[in-house]
Amino acid sequence: SRRITVRDIAAAKARGEKWPMLTAYDALTARIFDEAGIPVLLVGDSAAMVVYGYDSTVPVTLDELIPLTAAVVRGSKRAMVVADLPFGSYQASVEQGLAAATRFLKETGAHAVKLEGGRRVIPQVEAMVAAGIPVMGHLGLTPQSVNVFGGYRVQGRGESGEQLLHDAKALEAAGAFAVVLECVPEDLAQRVTSSLSIPTVGIGAGSGTDAQVLVWQDMAGLVPHTAKFVKKYAAVGDLLGQAAREYAEEVVGGSFPAPEHSYH
Ligand code: KIV
Ligand code: NA
Repeated sequence: SRRITVRDIAAAKARGEKWPMLTAYDALTARIFDEAGIPVLLVGDSAAMVVYGYDSTVPVTLDELIPLTAAVVRGSKRAMVVADLPFGSYQASVEQGLAAATRFLKETGAHAVKLEGGRRVIPQVEAMVAAGIPVMGHLGLTPQSVNVFGGYRVQGRGESGEQLLHDAKALEAAGAFAVVLECVPEDLAQRVTSSLSIPTVGIGAGSGTDAQVLVWQDMAGLVPHTAKFVKKYAAVGDLLGQAAREYAEEVVGGSFPAPEHSYH
């Protein structure tokens, strides 16, 4: 069995098939999601929060994301792995962005990169695509710009919706193979989706996109407070807390380890 490629992703849109994307940051969860049939795994810069404990994605570095991305590639067999270019690794110049994207592919085995922004990053997208690196765009609520937005709020309402559509078309023309639409009104996401021949991947963008993405810790109920657009498919946080409490109790009470856990 081979990996999912950008050609499979393009074919899915042509057939009108929707597909799921999840984030992953380590080998074990990558294997679980891969075996569950998730075709695309994103090593998001959301690792800043869910792995490293920062309070936004702004501080995380390429050096911090590279080992996580390599682990996700090693843990998966079938999924296409997308590496998220962190804040400060591609904005300064085409050369800087190309160097960062190249490091991701060479040092981790990832199959594509993602970056945030529209027209302002078109030269970077063109250079990466020309160099043989598939690029996923990201528009709407782009968390690396939280300090410009003044918080995490819905983007693309009114006039700025036209700007977003224009940005999406520019990304497609530059050779991007897909574009994430984060936290935008459902009707705008629908309009972008029908205006593009590349797939849209929605998060908080309603049901009209070609694909969906969620941060796995949000989806699995590990994060207590999440945005309205998150559906919790499990209560892994409660389950894990309960397991830790039982383990602690049994160690303190002397019932773990039992004879069957010991070597005789
Ligand atoms: O970093 C991330 O997890 C993301 C997705 C939410 C799209 O960019
Ligand atoms: Na991200």
